[in-house]
Amino acid sequence: MNTIAFDFGMIGLGTMGRNLLLNIADHGFAAIGYDRDEIKGKLLESEATKGTQVKAAASLAEMVQQLKTPRKIMMLVPAGPIVDAVINDLLPLVSPGDIIIDGGNSHHTDTLKRINSLADKKIHFMGMGVSGGEAGARYGPSMMPGGDMAAWKAVQPILEAVAAKAGDQPCVAYMGKAAAGHYVKMVHNGIEYAIMQLISEAYDIMKRGLGLSNDELHSVFKKWNEGEMQSYLMEITASIFLKHDELTKNRLVDMILDKAGSKGTGKWTSQDAMDLPVSVPTIDIAVAIRDLSGYKDERVIANTLYKPIIKPLKQKEKTIQQLHDALYSATIICYAQGLAMIAKASTTLQMDIPLKAVVSIWRGGCIIRSSLLELFTAAFKRDKQLSNILLSKKTASLVKKKIPGLRKIIQLAAVSKIPATGLMSALGYFDAYCSGQMPVNLIQAQRDFFGAHTYQRIDREGVFHTEW
Ligand code: 6PG
Repeated sequence: MNTIAFDFGMIGLGTMGRNLLLNIADHGFAAIGYDRDEIKGKLLESEATKGTQVKAAASLAEMVQQLKTPRKIMMLVPAGPIVDAVINDLLPLVSPGDIIIDGGNSHHTDTLKRINSLADKKIHFMGMGVSGGEAGARYGPSMMPGGDMAAWKAVQPILEAVAAKAGDQPCVAYMGKAAAGHYVKMVHNGIEYAIMQLISEAYDIMKRGLGLSNDELHSVFKKWNEGEMQSYLMEITASIFLKHDELTKNRLVDMILDKAGSKGTGKWTSQDAMDLPVSVPTIDIAVAIRDLSGYKDERVIANTLYKPIIKPLKQKEKTIQQLHDALYSATIICYAQGLAMIAKASTTLQMDIPLKAVVSIWRGGCIIRSSLLELFTAAFKRDKQLSNILLSKKTASLVKKKIPGLRKIIQLAAVSKIPATGLMSALGYFDAYCSGQMPVNLIQAQRDFFGAHTYQRIDREGVFHTEW
């Protein structure tokens, strides 16, 4: 007999969906899931903590029938047409007032369309970014829900219980109207791409420039993670260098082909930034370098053609300290670009995204969690309208101390022929952002010269054109 008993339903019981549902059950909520693959349902039940209420439904209808109303149904399925297919399957089964949450990495424009089409049927659709990977889902992710405020209020107690905690604060909060949740997650991933790019450049400079072994690389990243640069990405980077390969006697990192994959969220960030428009050059570069990495065959030919001989770097200790400062300041600049993008999108796309809540819930659970987010949370607490984190006085005093290291490392990288495109883009952005006077007066003159595109003057109002 079917009894209406469950608090939360999950569609898609892959590792992420299963782990999040088990996490929900561990916090005292009755959890039911459905997956077309019966084996995943069986796994869900076998992995459940003893004494928790967890059930795998045999059909979608069975799952929906057994949920308390208003129903809270989340899907963790691949972004794209599958999300629409699941919605179509759900529609005949749900009732007005029910809540459907898409926890995947869907594009925000798709989410907006789904919100609007389901609103006609009085179904609340929420786009929610979930970060933290498989372990995060099981033991505490950072979650970025957006959309209907009433729907958020209904799911808030469950999501707050299962989210990662930063101190005693849950790493989940309302991210704003419409598709704000997926928008914030998209930019989170853009920042993730940029920081990973910077870390890979620091690795390259230490490996090929300073000749550090994997053990030494482990020690440097471990030490950095124990100091002011503490972050999840720093922590996992340190441990990667120690992992032995099971098939050879080498370290695993040295056996991995240098072609980076991507599922598209970094690219979306760059594309959307250009549409806004807002400048996120370090995210752009991170996407471009992943793309360039795919051209392995051409890179090998170019290497033979140009024979770039790496000039070894000297003064190991000093260079590592400069690299620390370079990475630290460039990382702040990555966050600055991403957060400035969210600030701009918040008003342009009318999402009312609370920036302080964004940085606050990124402090735990997510891939870009780092001690820097405490600094940013305090900055947005002081000024909710801060358009760029580089304008915060506290951030500025830190950046001022560290930026000479970034300048020095870029000089060294250029001379030693080690590509440092991400680091260079961060410094270039910083220098341009701090330029009260940019050389684009010349660009305006050129545009007017060849295309009569007009220009404005510094000494009087109006729009001018000159016969050059
Ligand atoms: C997270 C990650 C997660 C996933 C990325 C990977 O926050 O947990 O961002 O969403 O790791 O989608 O993206 P790429 O495959 O594009 O690197």
